[in-house]
This record gives sequence, C-alpha cells and structure tokens, in this order.
Amino acid sequence: MNEVYKNPKYYEIAFSFRDVVAEVDVFEQVIEQYSRIPVSTVLELGCGHAPHVAELARRKYQYIGLDLNPAMLEYARDKANAVDALSQFELADMTDFRLAEQVDFAFVLLGSLQARNTAELVSHFDSVGRALKHGGLYFLDWCVAFSPSNQSVESWEMARGQVKVKTTSQTHLIDPAEQIFEESLTLEVEDGGAMKVFRETFTARQVYPQEFLLLIAARSDFEFVGWWNNWDMSQPLDKTREISRPITVLRRVCA
Ligand SMILES: C[S@@+](CC[C@H](N)C(=O)[O-])C[C@H]1O[C@@H](n2cnc3c(N)ncnc32)[C@H](O)[C@@H]1O
Repeated sequence: MNEVYKNPKYYEIAFSFRDVVAEVDVFEQVIEQYSRIPVSTVLELGCGHAPHVAELARRKYQYIGLDLNPAMLEYARDKANAVDALSQFELADMTDFRLAEQVDFAFVLLGSLQARNTAELVSHFDSVGRALKHGGLYFLDWCVAFSPSNQSVESWEMARGQVKVKTTSQTHLIDPAEQIFEESLTLEVEDGGAMKVFRETFTARQVYPQEFLLLIAARSDFEFVGWWNNWDMSQPLDKTREISRPITVLRRVCA
C-alpha cells in the first residue's frame, strides 16, 4: 500500500511543522557565506509538493523541482502556477538524471536523499555534480545519520482546518553490511468525518558521517563545506549530543 506520496494534500499537512520562510533565510545565509557564484536558479531533489516554491518565487529565484511521483509533481505545479509561471518540474530519478541547463544551487530536504544502495548513492552525486555550476552549493537536510539506531518509531499530529493527520514514521535495519533500512510512513487521516489510512514503505541506504566525508574527499567534483545542527549556523556539529534536523553543505569544486 504505497499511497502517502499519491496524496500530497495529506502529506503536506503531516509535514507542515516547518517554518519555510525561516528555512529560505537559512538558504540565503549559507549562499551568502559559502557560494562562489551568485544564485538565481535553484533545484530541489525529491521536491514532493515543493513546500518552499512560493517563498523562493517571492524572492525571485527560478525553481526547478525534481521528483519521481507524478501526483506530487502535479500538486506542486498547481501551487507554483498560483504564484509564478517560471517554476519548472521534472519527472526523474534523483539517482540518475540530467538537466538541460546547470543550476546555481541544489537542495534536498527532510532526509529525501533516496539511494537504495551504494551504487545509487554514487550515481546521485554524479548527477548532482553534472547539474550544479562550479562554485555552487548542494544543501542537504537530515541526509546524514549522526545518531543511528537499528530501529526507531516516531509519531506526531498536525491539523489544518477540519483535517487532522497523525503521522507515524518507523525504520528498521534489514541489511547491516549494506546499511539498508526499511522505512515506513503511515498517515491516519480524519477528514470531514471520514477516517482514512495511507502507508508508504521503501528501503533506503543510510549514510554515516565519517563515510560521507570519505566519499566526498574521494570525489573530484565536490568539497565539504560544513554541517550544523537544527538549521542553525551558530551550532556546528562538533561534540553536539542532541542532533535534530542537521544540515550539511557541499560545494561544487571551482573549475
Ligand atoms: C519525504 S518526501 C519530501 C518532499 C519535500 N522535499 C519536502 O521537503 O516536503 C520525499 C519525496 O522524494 C520523492 N522520491 C523518492 N525517491 C525518489 C527518487 N529516487 N527520485 C526522485 N524523487 C524521489 C518522493 O516521491 C517524495 O515526493
């Protein structure tokens, strides 16, 4: 029953705890400090319903959203068209894609770097390396597992108007040598008196911090810039104990 991503409206409510204006402020802070090029075009990988598209358009960035799921893209396109006709959407796999033109800044949010194995992880960075201009940044939210556990369960509730969504996210390790986890997302929705349940299950290869640094150091197209806790650049991760929503920034090596 892989249905969560086919129901963008409920997915959007489930993850509406984010402050997208503050998050776009952080993009701009990171760009100002570390990008070697001016930024006007931005690419979101695994864009889903494109939560940041309206705020990015308001600040005059040209947005490209890439996702595998047609329902998410359609929902995102409708939202973008309401604010700006310049946004583009690509139906493609983030582990192997090519864009017609390179962008100035790329980002992937909420742990959406969806590589199922090491080959796909490497191919993902090859694809992003091709898509990003020299000197541009790649911003990753919650994609490196700093506090891994073999099993986890998290649950929270959000509401919009009359719609209530209880979300449960579960992960468990299925292949320790390959670092592959099975992850599931369940939405229990109360909408207009009706109860509905949606579930999405997928496998993902986790990336641990020191292998991430080694992976990037072994590549000639990216350099590591830094990582910070909780979208806060005053909190570098050195010796941080409680890590939540860590961000990581890479730069496409200058020509
Ligand atoms: C957790 S959602 C995140 C959506 C959005 N970025 C956000 O911040 O709310 C993950 C998205 O990644 C997409 N996705 C999963 N695997 C993908 C792949 N291999 N290539 C492109 N998109 C993928 C899913 O369709 C889904 O829309």
